[in-house]
Amino acid sequence: RELEKFVDELPDMPRLRGYAVTDGGALIAGNLTIGMYDTTWKFHRDLPATRVFAYGTSKETATVPGPTIEAMRGVPTHVTWANHLHAPHPFLPWDDSLTTAAPPGGGVPTVVHLHGGVQHSSSDGHSLAWFTSGLAATGPLFSLSPPPYTYPNRQPPGNLWYHDHAMGLTRVNILAGLMGAYRVASPAEEASLNLPAGDALDRNLVLFDRDFRADGALYMNRTGNNPGVHPHWQPEYFGAVLVVNGKAWPYLRVRRRRYRFRILNASNARFFRLRLSAAGAGLRFAHVASDSVYLPRPVSTRAFLLAPSEIADVVVDFAETAAGSALLTDDAPAPYPGDPGERVETVPVMKFLIEDEDAEPDTSSVPAALMPHYPRPDAREAAATRRVTMYEYTRNGTDEPTHLYLNARSYMDPVTETPREGTSEVWDVINLTDDNHPLHLHLALFAVLGQRSLRRVDEFRDCMKRRDDADACGMEQHLAGGRRHVVPRQERGWKNVFKMRPSAVTRILVRFKPLSPDDGESRFPFDVTTGPGYVYHCHILDHEDNEMMRPMKIVR
Ligand code: C2O
Ligand code: CU
Repeated sequence: RELEKFVDELPDMPRLRGYAVTDGGALIAGNLTIGMYDTTWKFHRDLPATRVFAYGTSKETATVPGPTIEAMRGVPTHVTWANHLHAPHPFLPWDDSLTTAAPPGGGVPTVVHLHGGVQHSSSDGHSLAWFTSGLAATGPLFSLSPPPYTYPNRQPPGNLWYHDHAMGLTRVNILAGLMGAYRVASPAEEASLNLPAGDALDRNLVLFDRDFRADGALYMNRTGNNPGVHPHWQPEYFGAVLVVNGKAWPYLRVRRRRYRFRILNASNARFFRLRLSAAGAGLRFAHVASDSVYLPRPVSTRAFLLAPSEIADVVVDFAETAAGSALLTDDAPAPYPGDPGERVETVPVMKFLIEDEDAEPDTSSVPAALMPHYPRPDAREAAATRRVTMYEYTRNGTDEPTHLYLNARSYMDPVTETPREGTSEVWDVINLTDDNHPLHLHLALFAVLGQRSLRRVDEFRDCMKRRDDADACGMEQHLAGGRRHVVPRQERGWKNVFKMRPSAVTRILVRFKPLSPDDGESRFPFDVTTGPGYVYHCHILDHEDNEMMRPMKIVR
């Protein structure tokens, strides 16, 4: 039975202030307690309530996605994350063949990562710092000091999100509902931009795909693709139902004017290629920020690709059309990039009902310059060049992938990435698999310098699988004459995730120092060298859970 589309109104998730205001009007640090609750959520008018794991300040107010946290630049937010979850998990296929959090006495391991946040590693939600309800069990890198997580918010204004990051269980905990949006605002810098503002005009859109059973339960195939190796693990989760802010194919009433949408892809594995179609003419997106950082100048597109965990911050002007409605649509293959020549259907994601009765003039704008004062990437400043090779292995003599390794190492192998604080590094990411992998780094921002296809990739891959040595395997010869791929203009700023094209080398410049207008800061505002450390990983959650993640230790 098909669910009827556009019958539920798009919700705005509850907003929580990440700061406090004194009687004198000064902004001071905020203290939040956010719980993880085993509760239910209505994903669609005609679907029975679904059991979910949800973030909220109480069980009654917990939502999927969780509340939007509104932080203020330079004002710390302290969050006590409280796990109120007890087994059974809606999925939790503890797959002992993966490195997985597995508390001896049961419970649901969780740990929260603020994606795009610049925070000390003890507040970074390290996957091995997981904990269960009442801290009955904790992971090997869990530390109670300081007890609440501290987010300094000493970073440029932009869009972040928080989500579960427990070792080997991230894909199922997020699937169950543990994610939410987080904004860092800087009114002094942003007000003059005059972008559409206010709760009604500036909205977060959290997109993901899910499958449901007729009784409303979330469905995930728990039989491994190669059960002899992994009894439960599947390489990629895809659902047929597209959900925005917790509602399947919702609608939103808008006025014929500009709106700002902060669009996050919170799917496990689905890429979205988004477009706005309206009768007569298509509408455009004016990109103002990508991931957690504003662009120097806006970039106008008619369609764009958003990988899992990427954020596109766009302004849409509904006055550009005379139509009464517009559809946000997706036409990306799943898995991405799919087979060449494969025909992909265009499917709706949500609908905008454009209303006319409003006479109030639209005084917002998209200025010609946004935040042009951030340093530009310059590869000459790189203190080191590193290579990260993405491998897919198959065991048991089938074609089904069983292991996704970075640099031919498992997650638990000793750390090899030890960048020095205050420096930049060039990373050549060599993707020897058939999939596009969105690579994400904690703490550090990076800029994409280029992307180039490898020629005779089979030969190169065979050599790399034997030796894991790009020079010995002649990477430069394999790149010579390889096709160069244009980096979309809205993705040329500072990002924290980028799509690593298959059979190609993507070169990024990573900064292990804060991003500031004058580029004058080389130290983070806390000791980055202590604590459990950071990670980098593929943000297809099913890959991340199967070792496509590596530790990263910053040194001085
Ligand atoms: Cu959004 Cu380590 O992840
Ligand atoms: Cu991946």
